[in-house]
Amino acid sequence: MTERIVLAYSGGLDTSVAIGWIGEATGAEVIAVAVDVGQGGESLETIRQRALGCGAVEAYVADASDEFANEYCMPTLKANALYQGHYPLVSAISRPVIVKHLVKAAREFGATTVAHGCTGKGNDQVRFEVGIQTLGPDLKCIAPVRDLALTRDKAIAFAEEKGLPIETTKKNPYSIDQNVWGRAVETGYLEDIWNAPTKDIYDYTATPEFPPAPDEVTISFEAGVPVAIDGVKVTPLQAIKELNRRAGAQGVGRIDVVEDRLVGIKSREIYEAPGAMALITAHKHLEDITVEREQARFKASVGQRWAELVYDGQWFSPLKRSLDAFIEDTQKYVSGDIRMTLHGGQAVVNGRRSDTSLYDFDLATYDTGDTFDQSMARGFIELWGMSAKVASGRDIRVAGE
Ligand code: ARG
Repeated sequence: MTERIVLAYSGGLDTSVAIGWIGEATGAEVIAVAVDVGQGGESLETIRQRALGCGAVEAYVADASDEFANEYCMPTLKANALYQGHYPLVSAISRPVIVKHLVKAAREFGATTVAHGCTGKGNDQVRFEVGIQTLGPDLKCIAPVRDLALTRDKAIAFAEEKGLPIETTKKNPYSIDQNVWGRAVETGYLEDIWNAPTKDIYDYTATPEFPPAPDEVTISFEAGVPVAIDGVKVTPLQAIKELNRRAGAQGVGRIDVVEDRLVGIKSREIYEAPGAMALITAHKHLEDITVEREQARFKASVGQRWAELVYDGQWFSPLKRSLDAFIEDTQKYVSGDIRMTLHGGQAVVNGRRSDTSLYDFDLATYDTGDTFDQSMARGFIELWGMSAKVASGRDIRVAGE
């Protein structure tokens, strides 16, 4: 029987050419798999037809947009996950859901190998292959760009020679990856890290310098998940989409960073994640009133570790699963409403309320109604400082000897 290879298919030039390229190099039949993670653009049927036109024996599309929002974006939100303090893991969280569908398709179509279009320099190859190894340990991996010398120039020549139904003239200098959680842009002119990004780079966000009138939004959460916007019930996918639209119109969520890739390279990245950044900001502010102090302090470091694991392709790892369990436990009381103003590139929280709040007005107030017994503070401070005071006494004694 002819060997079969499942290819992660985007509909773009590289993966379209990869169908025939893999076929010629290996003699295998190629099954194209496209996964909808809310990236927008062409219809999945158009993409499916193109794959068949490029020589795929089967083309399979998976609508994973709700699954992606519920099972990948929401855990990222609960973790307030920002890699290196900036990046909401847009591409990093889409790889595991794509992997899941690739492995499923490999089983369905009797494939022995999974192929993806990543280069050998990035994180995505790691995320794909570590995921595949974990979910389908018997499956082999192949990356035509990395392993079969499929360069851009060769791809264009191949497409023209074979008359493939794919545009080869459109020159986009950037490498772009997008889904409902955000958009990542790299390479080209951006590789000079002194160059400011030009306006044409952005798609999810409008220029914040010329914002429309401020937009006030109320986001309601239940157990860490957005459930309503301005009182209208929403699913996680709808919440992200609605905030992509409203926060995007105000230029919220533009990120320009040089980040540390897993492979050891520092790389310049432009992200836009209006919905994700508005949601993370709101969620964090709701945690500020609903999560107990020590739990909150510890959670901040857990969230950072979680972001690193996910960035590094460890989505399916035991440690990530254990951290998920901790994070989930902290979300029990993260319910309530956050009011925020979206304007001029900022999402600023200006109101919060929750039935499960730990904010106690009577303890906090400096006005009448104060229930806090201030006389308790003296003794507390005395004991709190005791250890450092004893040590400092020793320092003075030793210095004087
Ligand atoms: N550097 C980011 C990450 O590793 C984004 C990668 C996006 N991929 C792309 N082909 N532009 O998650």
